[in-house]
Amino acid sequence: MQIDHDAIIVGAGGAGLWAALELAKAGVNAAVLTKLYPTRSHTGAAQGGVCAALGNQEEDHWEWHMYDTIKGGDYLVDQDAAEVLAREAIETVIELEHMGLPFNRTPDGRIDQRRFGGHTRNFGEGPVKRACFAADRTGHMILQTLYQQCIKLGVKFYDEYHVIDLLSEGGDLGEGGRAAGVVAYRIADGEIHTFRSKAVMIATGGFGRMFRITSNAWSLTGDGVALAYRHGIPMQDMEFYQFHPTGIAGIGILLSEAARGEGGILLNGKNEQFMKRYAPSMVDLAPRDIVSRAIYLEIKAGLGAGPAKDYVYLDVRHLGRAVIEEKLPDITDFARVYLGVEPITELVPIQPTAHYAMGGIPTDINSRVLRDEKSTVVPGLYAAGECACVSVHGANRLGTNSLVDLLVFGRRAGRQMAADVTGIAMPDLPDDAEAGVRAEIEAIRNSKGGESFAKVRTELADVMMDNVGVYREESLLLAAQAKVRELRERYARITVADKGMVFNTELLETRELGYLLDCAETTVEAALARKESRGGHAREDFPDRDDVNFLTHSLAFRTGDLPALRYKPVTITKFQPKPRTY
Ligand code: FUM
Repeated sequence: MQIDHDAIIVGAGGAGLWAALELAKAGVNAAVLTKLYPTRSHTGAAQGGVCAALGNQEEDHWEWHMYDTIKGGDYLVDQDAAEVLAREAIETVIELEHMGLPFNRTPDGRIDQRRFGGHTRNFGEGPVKRACFAADRTGHMILQTLYQQCIKLGVKFYDEYHVIDLLSEGGDLGEGGRAAGVVAYRIADGEIHTFRSKAVMIATGGFGRMFRITSNAWSLTGDGVALAYRHGIPMQDMEFYQFHPTGIAGIGILLSEAARGEGGILLNGKNEQFMKRYAPSMVDLAPRDIVSRAIYLEIKAGLGAGPAKDYVYLDVRHLGRAVIEEKLPDITDFARVYLGVEPITELVPIQPTAHYAMGGIPTDINSRVLRDEKSTVVPGLYAAGECACVSVHGANRLGTNSLVDLLVFGRRAGRQMAADVTGIAMPDLPDDAEAGVRAEIEAIRNSKGGESFAKVRTELADVMMDNVGVYREESLLLAAQAKVRELRERYARITVADKGMVFNTELLETRELGYLLDCAETTVEAALARKESRGGHAREDFPDRDDVNFLTHSLAFRTGDLPALRYKPVTITKFQPKPRTY
């Protein structure tokens, strides 16, 4: 069946929803496809805040936010994009407030703001209150607010439609073709639908599920990033993956940095506030890469807590019941439910958890997808949110900048698409546009190779966690490269037990595993090639940053064999790279 819309958005998180709003406001016939329900999107899992230099409680300026973002990203940030982010953060947050988002309030009725890692006043002098928040449910509130607005404006949603391919006209997407729609699998009955459109936006989120311990939902499997890659679009800066310091030990569920923003601290097994040794000025509010490495080093030095000394503690006891119940209700409940620990009176065991991909689909500041190191625009194709790499986070994202990123660049994507689809004709699609992907799906359904999907997925998550985690080094990366290659071969032999058409989640999860393998392979390859340490990429064998050779973005292109790497320069406008201390 073929369905036509002028614009298609794949993914119903914050970026996709805000883009849909802009299209609806412009009167464009747009639709959103999601493999979930919109309000189950992973934006809803973002907890502690969305930053904007409102200066509601303390003096603040967008230039300070821009500087912090660039320094936080270890100077791999494209500074034109960081300027857009910091400037437009302010108006997008105000717009959200006007849409009805229930932010916490100051006593005089303004949006309340809290501290967050790496956000400073006056270019690094000390922490500043910049994160606007709704308790520790900020992403949840953003998602609900944007979804309500979309419903109000009559946006068309296709829920539980799993997009399994991208379509183009006039050649493949990496070869000069223009985006022409998507192919989607309706989960309820296994029917395959072709959606034809003049513009396609990818807003499918990240791929944290390639790691064993992660804050990411099961749905975060890199679908959009991998589909674009399979059509010739490179993956940018894949070696930079963020570990959030405070995941629940052994499980990975996020305990928001807001706990430290409100005054919580980290303690090692000897009850020492160890961050004083690693970041004397920002202490527990140093950026995440620095805190995660510190935790790893404490554990390695035998200073961890617990029977195996393999975690450290988050301590919020001194904040008192009132602050905890008013400002941190969800995460304290998570500690109660998943650990049986009462944070008001007890220490909470935590460990770094795979949280956020700084890399992804290369885009420009108007969310248009770029296909090479010359920044050639792919007509009709857009991306925003975690799946995109614009690049505002560089080598390490600051907390609360993910929500701003998806709001600012989701809004920009919608506006750009609305302008671009006006006055152009619908693409021509061949009658058998979906034949290739239909055959791939049938091949998975009918494979008799006998390999287990669960085993391949578990082994992938294990090798990525153990060899490509907080610290890396060559021998571990080479072992990961060989393992991912082996898993790829075994992937081709996976046999699904469920041969049916109705809610065949085994089939779809197998397809998702293929996307994770693509993302893992490019991550390993880019990490091997980057012989320096920068932001979230820490090489024990190359401990220093090397601006002479590596102040560049990596681009991983698909080949018949291992990914091919090419590089492009970082855009530097206002802030020259300098040593990064906190
Ligand atoms: O810690 C947190 O609340 C997470 C926020 C973020 O990743 O930006």
